[in-house]
Amino acid sequence: MTQPQQNPEVSLVPDRPVPQHIGIIMDGNGRWAKARGLPRQAGHRAGTKNIRRVLEEAVRLGIKVLTVYAFSTENWGRPQEEVKHLMWLISKSIQDELDELDANGVQIRHSGRMAGVNPQLQKDIRWAIERTRHNDRIILNVAFNYGGRAEIVDAVRHIIEDQVPPEEVDEALISSYLYTAGLPDPDLIIRTGGEYRLSNFLTWQAAYAEYYATPVFWPDFDEAELRRAVAVYQGRERRFGLVK
Ligand code: IPE
Ligand code: IPE
Ligand code: MG
Repeated sequence: MTQPQQNPEVSLVPDRPVPQHIGIIMDGNGRWAKARGLPRQAGHRAGTKNIRRVLEEAVRLGIKVLTVYAFSTENWGRPQEEVKHLMWLISKSIQDELDELDANGVQIRHSGRMAGVNPQLQKDIRWAIERTRHNDRIILNVAFNYGGRAEIVDAVRHIIEDQVPPEEVDEALISSYLYTAGLPDPDLIIRTGGEYRLSNFLTWQAAYAEYYATPVFWPDFDEAELRRAVAVYQGRERRFGLVK
C-alpha cells in the first residue's frame, strides 16, 4: 500500500471544539514492518514508541482522554511468539515510561480483563494506575486484553452479582459497570492501517462516535496525522438522531 504524504502544516479549525475523548485502533504495525523488510516485532516496537508522540500532541490539542487499543481478546490467537513479544513490550513500556508519564501529569487507566494476564504484568498495571491516579492533565486509557463484547459480558455478570433490580438497569447503569466507568464516551474513533472496522473496540461506548480511518500505518501516524483527524472531526456535524 502506498502511504500518503505527511503534511506538518495541518492545523485545526478555529472556534470548533476538539474531541474530549479519542479512541485509537493502532493498526498496521505488521505491515509497516513488512514494507521495510523487518520482522513484525520491529513494527510492534515502533508502534509502541509512537504512543508517546501522539499522546504529547493530544495534550497540546487539549484532548482529555486518549484510549489506545493495545491488545484485543482476539489477539491471543496470534502465534505464541508474537503474543509473548507483545506482553513483554507492555511490561517494558511500563518500566521505561512510567516515571516520565507520571511527571507529565498523565493518568493511566486500563480497560480490559485482568484474568488471563501474567500475574507480574497484572501487578505492574495496577501499580501504574495507582501511582498516576491523581494526575489530571490527560488520561491515557490502555485497552489491553480488551474486547467490547467481553466487557459487556463482565458488566452483566457484575450487575447480576450485585442483585440490581431489573427496573434499575438503564444505559447509565450499564455504562457504570463497564471498564470505562467514569470516562466520557469517545467522540472520535481513529483507525490507522487502512481497515474499516471496529474489531471489538468500545462497542457500547462508540455508539455515537465519529469515525475516521486512514491508510497510514500506526508507527507513521504522527502529530500532523492526529491534527488532520481532529480537523476532519471538527468539520463534522453531530446530530445524535435529532434534526438540525
Ligand atoms: C496492530 O498491528 C497491533 C496489534 C494488533 C497488537 P497489527 O499487528 O495488527 O499489524 P497488521 O494489521 O498485521 O499490519
Ligand atoms: C485491532 O487490530 C486490535 C488492536 C489494534 C489491538 P487487529 O489487527 O487485531 O484487527 P483485525 O484482525 O484486522 O480485525
Ligand atoms: Mg492488524
